[in-house]
Amino acid sequence: MDRRELGAGTRVVRAARSLPPGDGRPVVPPLVQSVAFAYDSASEQDAVFGNERAGYVYGRYGTPTTAALEAALAELEGAEATTCFVSGMAAIAAAVDACALAAGGRVVAQEDCYGQTRALFERWSRERGADIVFVDTTDQAAVERALRARPTRLLYAEAIANPLLRVNDVVALAALAGRHGAALAIDATFATPVLLRPAKLGAAIVIQSLTKYLNGHGDVMGGAVSGSKDLARAMRERTILDGGYLPPHEAWLVIRGMRTLALRVERQCVTALEVARHLSGHPKIGAVRYPGLPDHPQHDLATRQFGGRYGGVVSFQLRDDTKEAAFRFLDSLDLAASATTIGDLFTEVLYPPISSHRRLPADERRRLGITDGFLRLSVGIEDPEDILADIDRALERV
Ligand SMILES: Cc1ncc(COP(=O)(O)O)c(C=O)c1O
Repeated sequence: MDRRELGAGTRVVRAARSLPPGDGRPVVPPLVQSVAFAYDSASEQDAVFGNERAGYVYGRYGTPTTAALEAALAELEGAEATTCFVSGMAAIAAAVDACALAAGGRVVAQEDCYGQTRALFERWSRERGADIVFVDTTDQAAVERALRARPTRLLYAEAIANPLLRVNDVVALAALAGRHGAALAIDATFATPVLLRPAKLGAAIVIQSLTKYLNGHGDVMGGAVSGSKDLARAMRERTILDGGYLPPHEAWLVIRGMRTLALRVERQCVTALEVARHLSGHPKIGAVRYPGLPDHPQHDLATRQFGGRYGGVVSFQLRDDTKEAAFRFLDSLDLAASATTIGDLFTEVLYPPISSHRRLPADERRRLGITDGFLRLSVGIEDPEDILADIDRALERV
């Protein structure tokens, strides 16, 4: 029987399923949105599903565009491999669960880590009976005591902690963890790979919220876990079964944003230091926390660890240390956005008690140093004079 010509319905469905062949490599990686990947040979497909050969099968297993981002991040971090997730929180959840909790392992975590990370760990303790203890990770004797108390799988800390900006000594923590048979996980979101490459300093697991500096444009959420190839295999298991893999369009945008990471961060560090110095002398300010100021408790460590740059976030406490004063400050900002993120092109100010640290009991929040007049400012790439003028105008109204 003659093969009939294809009908219009079939033609449109089959049309443009791949790009026409032609010479020349694109200078920007293509955005491959395809969820599924077709094979001419079932045995070839079998080999890819079975991890006997490299390839793509389905969106949760890996996509060429997300893989391009993963390769770039691994190189940036100086790690063997990177796996990308739909958010920083998804990356943290996957890494901590797979590397410790799923096997009943204990975690020693930084007490003043990002509020939602702490809330997640506390929820796991409550709901799953997870053994997670919180310590001041800048106090090495306290960390040692916590590690010595019971066998521990994971020591978890942030390079520059959100929002108090305490700086952790990654080399010292890696040595401590190693002595007690634990792996060190560092969330380096505030430091970025421009200031710090924790994988090169002994951290087994490096976490980034791609939502922040790496993308930098405030239009994508994403997270990354970097480390060994074994870690990447464990993380891939998570993306396949838990479903938190970073889709290609987001990956493509992060690749684009990431190209200016070093330029943005260098400028933000310079402006942030200027802002911190300015705030230090301001009569309406009670205290400034910035690793670049000589009175910061880990200033020397920060200078050593980050090569003379201190990040783009400045935290401060109003002299009138009240919620009303904080609200007046936020409502008086004109240029800076009162918004809950960091690391964007735009200057953004956050009031942690109503946002990132809302779930933390008020007493514990204040004990950590997040008082009622505490604000966190993420410096953008606007002209520094305009950022300072905006802050001064808002402070006048406090
Ligand atoms: C230090 C740190 N880690 C992780 C996260 C979570 O990232 P995401 O918002 O992309 O889930 C945040 C978010 O603010 C953060 O500040």
